Amino acid sequence: MANVAVVGAQWGDEGKGKIVDWLSSRADVVVRFQGGHNAGHTLVVGDRVYKLALLPSGVVQGKLSVIGNGVVVDPWHLLDEIARIEAQGVEIKPELLVLADNAALILPLHRDLDQAREKEAIGGKIGTTGRGIGPAYEDKVGRRAIRVADLADPAAIDLKLPRLLAHHDALRRGLDLPPVDAAQLKAELLEIAPKIAPYVQPAWRVLDQAVKAGKRILFEGAQGALLDVDHGTYPFVTSSNTSAGQASAGSGLGPSAVGYVLGIVKAYTTRVGEGPFPTELFDEIGEHLSVVGKEVGVNTGRARRCGWFDAVLVRQTVAINGIHGIALMKLDILDGLKTLKICTGYQVGDRVLDHLPASMADQAAATPIYEEMEGWSETTYGARSWRDLPATAVKYVRRIEELIGAPVAVLSTSPDRDDTILMHDPFLG
Ligand code: IMO
Ligand code: MG
Repeated sequence: MANVAVVGAQWGDEGKGKIVDWLSSRADVVVRFQGGHNAGHTLVVGDRVYKLALLPSGVVQGKLSVIGNGVVVDPWHLLDEIARIEAQGVEIKPELLVLADNAALILPLHRDLDQAREKEAIGGKIGTTGRGIGPAYEDKVGRRAIRVADLADPAAIDLKLPRLLAHHDALRRGLDLPPVDAAQLKAELLEIAPKIAPYVQPAWRVLDQAVKAGKRILFEGAQGALLDVDHGTYPFVTSSNTSAGQASAGSGLGPSAVGYVLGIVKAYTTRVGEGPFPTELFDEIGEHLSVVGKEVGVNTGRARRCGWFDAVLVRQTVAINGIHGIALMKLDILDGLKTLKICTGYQVGDRVLDHLPASMADQAAATPIYEEMEGWSETTYGARSWRDLPATAVKYVRRIEELIGAPVAVLSTSPDRDDTILMHDPFLG
């Protein structure tokens, strides 16, 4: 039996939450390995809808859920989210939630900086979620971060705060923000420390023991490969590696523990925030995808930009992630469209490219080369078997597999957990 990593293969919002929830019934442990509460993972179970941002999606099924070292953690948000999900009737006991002691914290000063930079927008906006993700990762890499373990150690906070605040106060002066009140921040950290303490453990050790005991691990990616800080549409990306390689570094398990990589792919393309998007549509078809697909951000309520399926991008992210198979999501949103287009290459000036170029200017100039396919008028919503799909829908799916070089392992036909067609079990490797 393989462990499974679930990663977004586009610009996020592919439906990772639904698939992780669905797979977690057969997993023992679910672990987040990057990102923070910029994620918005929606789980629909019967008439209940759970919206998770920081908590691993395994909490809803009562699985051991681990927030790994690669995640940046806003401890106030964490407590709020636990309370919100518990109010929906899900018990989140400390025995079932592990917070890595070596994860870096997101503090109010990170949110201030994120939002002030987006407001100033010198050199253009990124369109972040405004939750302090980028500045928290900067401090982690800059060796200034307050980490989870520091909460239990007032002396460590005293030692680290001056270095952190010297950096932030200099930045804040330039952004017309008042200096950070060190005493107040320390008091806030000490106040929240005992509430966080019950969850804190060496997560790598919990996971190592789970692997040795033959438990099945599900790695839950956030965002998507095109938002990866190295491989994405830089600088219009998030500040972490979102690709499957991070599942190892961000959890503390070796790469051989990762196993099967399941890429989550929407049957069309969306993105939130700024940045290049070659197949973006501004016509009534874009409107159809947006309205029928309910393409509104879970966290920020922002409308997502919508466009045709881009096989060039997904072919690239299949390679970067080592994707073994994909879960194809939201095929039903294409129901009723007469003609479908799939992007198979880019025209950049007089060059034809089979991949997304790294240069910002080339990315912005890339115009899609399309292949057209016949659509279907029947509904595919809620289909529970491959045989229920119209022949033209099957053809569309088969063409996607061919173009991206990966098979469809799972086909999702509605947000509901049960409307999922399994073609190949990822846990079988
Ligand atoms: P899930 O896990 C879609 C985008 C933001 C912005 C960029 C940087 O639900 O798929 P950040 O706040 O991370 O510094 O913002 O990344 N972004 C997402 N887009 N889905 C997400 O998560 C995202 N998390 C961040 O919109 O463009
Ligand atoms: Mg989302």
